[in-house]
Amino acid sequence: MNVKKIREDFPILNSKKPIIYFDNACMSLKPRQVIEKINEYYNEYPACVGRSNHRIGRIASEEYNNTRSIIKKFINAREEKEIIFTRNTTEGLNILSKTLDYDLIITTDKEHNSNHVPWLMSGKKREILKTEQDKVDTSIEEQLKDILAKNKNNKILISIVHTSNLDGTTINPEKIIKIAHENNALVVLDAAQSITHKQINVKKLDVDFIAFSGHKILGPTGTGVLYGKKELLEKLKNNYTGGDTVKDTFYDKVEFEEIPQKFEAGLQDYAGFIGLGEAIKYLQKYINDIESHQTKLNKILTEGLKEHVKIIGPKNPELRSGIFNFTSKINHHELSVILDNYANIMIRSGRHCVHSWYNDHNIEGSARASVYLYNTEEEAKTFVDKMKEILK
Ligand SMILES: Cc1ncc(COP(=O)(O)O)c(C=O)c1O
Repeated sequence: MNVKKIREDFPILNSKKPIIYFDNACMSLKPRQVIEKINEYYNEYPACVGRSNHRIGRIASEEYNNTRSIIKKFINAREEKEIIFTRNTTEGLNILSKTLDYDLIITTDKEHNSNHVPWLMSGKKREILKTEQDKVDTSIEEQLKDILAKNKNNKILISIVHTSNLDGTTINPEKIIKIAHENNALVVLDAAQSITHKQINVKKLDVDFIAFSGHKILGPTGTGVLYGKKELLEKLKNNYTGGDTVKDTFYDKVEFEEIPQKFEAGLQDYAGFIGLGEAIKYLQKYINDIESHQTKLNKILTEGLKEHVKIIGPKNPELRSGIFNFTSKINHHELSVILDNYANIMIRSGRHCVHSWYNDHNIEGSARASVYLYNTEEEAKTFVDKMKEILK
C-alpha cells in the first residue's frame, strides 16, 4: 500500500496547514474521487431515481443502482435485494430492533449506544455478555452457550459488535454464528468499525444481518447499509411507509413493494449513495492491507506511550486494530484541545458512545486516537513526541 500516493487523493491532507487526523473511528476523510462523484450527480444528473423516464432520470437511476451492485460484491451477498440503504448503522439496528420477532436479545457489555439503546428500549428480555478488558475474549462464547441452553424456548437474537470502537478488539464471528445457529438463534453483527479494515464475506460467515455506515469507509455522511438474508428480510414488516415503498395503493388498502424497496421510504440521498459506491470501489483496492498498516502505527503509539498513559483494552496493539484509547493525568477533553491547538492533531475525547461501559468501569472518559490507511509512521511518531511534551 503506497500511503504517500493515497494521501494525494485526500484534499484536506494537502491543504496549506496540514492536519494529523487521528479521529478515524468516528469519521473517515473523503478522497477526491468520492467528492467528485457526488458533485457529478448534482452537476450532471440531479434527478429522481426510479420514477422519471427522461434521460437524466435514467442516468441517476443507473448510477444509484450501481452502488447496490458494488456493495453486493463488496460483502459477497447473494442478491442485490439483500442490501437495504439506510442513513447509518444506527438506523439499520433500529429497523431490526423494531421489526424482528424475538423475545430475548443478547449483546455484550461493550456495545456502542446504537447497539444498546434500541434493545434497551424494546422492553424485551436482555442478557449482556461480559467481556474481559485485557485480552481478546473467548469467554463470551462459553457465556453464550450457557444462556442459550437456559432459554431453549425463547426466540433468541444476538446483536454484537464485530470490532469495538472502544478498544479496537474483534470478536470471532464464525464461532458465535455457529453456536447461535446450532441453537436456532439469529445473529446481527454491528460492523460499523470492522467494515473499515476487514473484507467481510456475509455468505461465508453465514451471518443473518450486518449494519454499517458509509461515513467511516471514505463515503458520505448520511449513508448506511443494512444487509440481511433474503428469506429473513422478506418476513420483516416495514416500519416506515410511503412513496417508493408501494406497488399500488387504494383508498382503503396498500400493496407493498418487494425488498429492498419496501424499506426505503421516500426520495433518498441519491448523491450520497452514488458517492458511497465510489468510496467502496476505492476502499476495495486497499482493504486487505489496511489492518496490518493500522497495527504497524498502533505499535508505534503503544511502544512510545505505554509508560505514560493507561491504555483501554489489551496491551498488545496487534489486538486493537487502529484504536489507541487511553486515559492520562490530563483531562481527556482538555488534552484533545491542546493536541489540536499545539500540534494540529485531531483526536476524539469523551465516552465514545459506549457510556454504559464507562459507567460500569467508573471511568469518566478517555482520549482516543484512531488511525487509517492514509496515516503515516511519521505522524504516529509525532503524536508520541507531542504527547510526551504535553504530559511533561
Ligand atoms: C461500533 C459502532 N457501532 C455503531 C456506530 C454507530 O454508527 P452511526 O452513528 O454511523 O450510526 C458506531 C459509530 O461510531 C460504531 O463505532
